[in-house]
Amino acid sequence: MAMSIKTNEIPVGVIGLGLMGCSITTCLLIAGHPVVAIAPISIDMTTAESRIRKHFVKAKEEGMVSEDPEFYFKNLIITEDYGALKPCKIAIECTLESEEIKKVVYGKIEAVIAEDALMTSNTSAIPISILQKMTKHPARFFGLHWAEPSHTTRFLEIICGDESDIAGGEYLYEISNYWNKEATLVRKDIRGFIGNRLMYAMYREAFYLVENGYATIEDVDRVCRNNTGYWMTLVGVFGWMDLTGVPAYHNVMKDLNPTLCNDTHVPKLIDDIVKAGGKGVANGHGFYKYTPEESKMWEETFADFNYEIRNLAMKYPFDIVKRKLAKLKEEKEAKDS
Ligand SMILES: NC(=O)c1ccc[n+]([C@@H]2O[C@H](COP(=O)([O-])OP(=O)(O)OC[C@H]3O[C@@H](n4cnc5c(N)ncnc54)[C@H](O)[C@@H]3O)[C@@H](O)[C@H]2O)c1
Repeated sequence: MAMSIKTNEIPVGVIGLGLMGCSITTCLLIAGHPVVAIAPISIDMTTAESRIRKHFVKAKEEGMVSEDPEFYFKNLIITEDYGALKPCKIAIECTLESEEIKKVVYGKIEAVIAEDALMTSNTSAIPISILQKMTKHPARFFGLHWAEPSHTTRFLEIICGDESDIAGGEYLYEISNYWNKEATLVRKDIRGFIGNRLMYAMYREAFYLVENGYATIEDVDRVCRNNTGYWMTLVGVFGWMDLTGVPAYHNVMKDLNPTLCNDTHVPKLIDDIVKAGGKGVANGHGFYKYTPEESKMWEETFADFNYEIRNLAMKYPFDIVKRKLAKLKEEKEAKDS
């Protein structure tokens, strides 16, 4: 970490307290920030506190935090009053994925926060260059794309729009170390950013293989779990090719790339499920079928898994080999002196 940052002196506003707003709030409180959590709709006032509390209870059970929820709640204000955002140095908008809603929310945030405060959106897919045009000071606007549950995942994309001032992006990159993230700074706006572009390329190929009878849904999932799933927490795609020998990939690409799916339509398989009201585990109807008991158990299993994979990811950070070598050097120097 190049900069020294005192998180307790940097109040952060989280606007929108649904699934992600609550886990982002949890992450920021763990990092020591005072947090002003804005409930844009009144239902948030009745659901947000218990959601955040539940995150802290589980985090303590898992040994991720040492204090009781009350300790962290001392730093939290949950309110419907946008005026409470006034001292915030960073605002994180986390409302529904709708340009209309986000535009109204930005007007309310900008009416209150200081001109030098940074504004960000957790949008999944709306280009930042479009969102920042809805604000008075586009240079201070960035995408801040988290992964659920934000207090355990290490993923964070910081995205510059066409008009963003890169210095703000670099500051967010530095501060994200205090949020326990291994962040990516996306210097040029592109639809889907990095993570979704990579994932959707894989989703598209997965549909192609199933729809054309090469493998079943279950078999495709088995490949993902046991091929990419085995090494991706240690290395990314480029690190993987280095580890296993670059020329082999070069060789395969020549013949394989022209055969990969490049369809531009939404696959029929997913279209049929969505048109029939299928949501996935949430209502038991997705690519697989789930009884209510199975759905509940999948959600619990996912919550447990998130902690285990986090521990593994923390044990093998991006610069694991550099760290190991530095430690060896230190030990050798101590021995020689
Ligand atoms: N769910 C994910 O895994 C995920 C991942 C990355 C990014 N995102 C993005 O984060 C944002 C929030 O997603 P979520 O999953 O937390 O959604 P959610 O449905 O759980 O919460 C939406 C929240 O939006 C706010 N909201 C609803 N109607 C509103 C209105 N009319 N005016 C102002 N605010 C309103 C409320 O605070 C509500 O709780 C979206 O932009 C989404 O694309 C979600």
